[in-house]
Amino acid sequence: MKRIGVLTSGGDAPGMNAAIRAVVRKAIYEGLEVVGIFHGYQGLIEGNMELLTLGSVGDIIQRGGTKLFSARSLEFRTEEGQQKAIEQLKANGIDGLVVIGGDGSYRGSMTLTKNGFPCVGIPGTIDNDIPGTDYTLGFDTALNTVIECIDKIRDTATSHDRTFIIEVMGRDAGDLALWAGLAGGAETIIIPEVEFDMEEIVEKLKSGTARGKKHSIIIVAEGVMSGSEFASHLMKHANIDTRVSVLGHIQRGGSPTGRDRVLASLFGARAVEVLLAGHGGRAVGIQNHQVVDYDMNEAFEKGEDFDLLMYQLSKELSI
Ligand code: F6P
Repeated sequence: MKRIGVLTSGGDAPGMNAAIRAVVRKAIYEGLEVVGIFHGYQGLIEGNMELLTLGSVGDIIQRGGTKLFSARSLEFRTEEGQQKAIEQLKANGIDGLVVIGGDGSYRGSMTLTKNGFPCVGIPGTIDNDIPGTDYTLGFDTALNTVIECIDKIRDTATSHDRTFIIEVMGRDAGDLALWAGLAGGAETIIIPEVEFDMEEIVEKLKSGTARGKKHSIIIVAEGVMSGSEFASHLMKHANIDTRVSVLGHIQRGGSPTGRDRVLASLFGARAVEVLLAGHGGRAVGIQNHQVVDYDMNEAFEKGEDFDLLMYQLSKELSI
């Protein structure tokens, strides 16, 4: 292995830049060349890439977004697109590829590996939904962003004795909603992994008001339904008036937390080591505080674990 490529794909996540930096610096330290591929798999198909130096990744560890830009490529989902991508990798003398991204990006890298091109995945998504790793890059930063928003909304909710519904991202996963709801002291957390009971929610709101509570915060994960849909259910069901806040893409931005920067550095370095060892089709991650690499296919077949105890705790603490 003499030259490797690195790309970011799918929704950007804070910490991607720190991971790019780690990949480039570790690879150069090991005597490799690194090519940065712009705009994810679409840029790969189009040959949009350049050689990166130590200096190219200076002053980015603290920045959100991704220096390499990102995209969701429809063309790469076709066999023709995948073939073009492999031709570009070969034409540019690239021997292995580090893919930083979420679920769709991982599936892309599994396809490339299956077609004979070694790829290693670094989990970069605020959704925390990649099988085989306890945390993904960007999750901690997004979590802190959501908590800050909840705290601010609570101020105005209390001032007006209001119930607020806050819609949180996470695609089909409830991790961001659950963690933020627990940390933000939300009264109710609605996530795709657990069915909700409207009667129970209404009862809780009513008994809270009867006890003199000045506000209620309901977190709704986007994977269940939109905040406004939930608000109209609540209105129809119990005539409860609410205000809705959709946090949206604010959750994807901002300077990565220390935790995300450290994870990014560990993941980036490990990804280079995995490629140097000649392995493809693997992902790096963290399991029980240990940095690990593992077979991507097996992990995806097994699927994601969900922490039901944490959900249960969030209910116990918000009675
Ligand atoms: O996967 C990251 C994510 O932010 C999800 O939480 C969200 O559902 C999706 O991306 C939004 O995608 P887009 O930026 O393409 O609208």
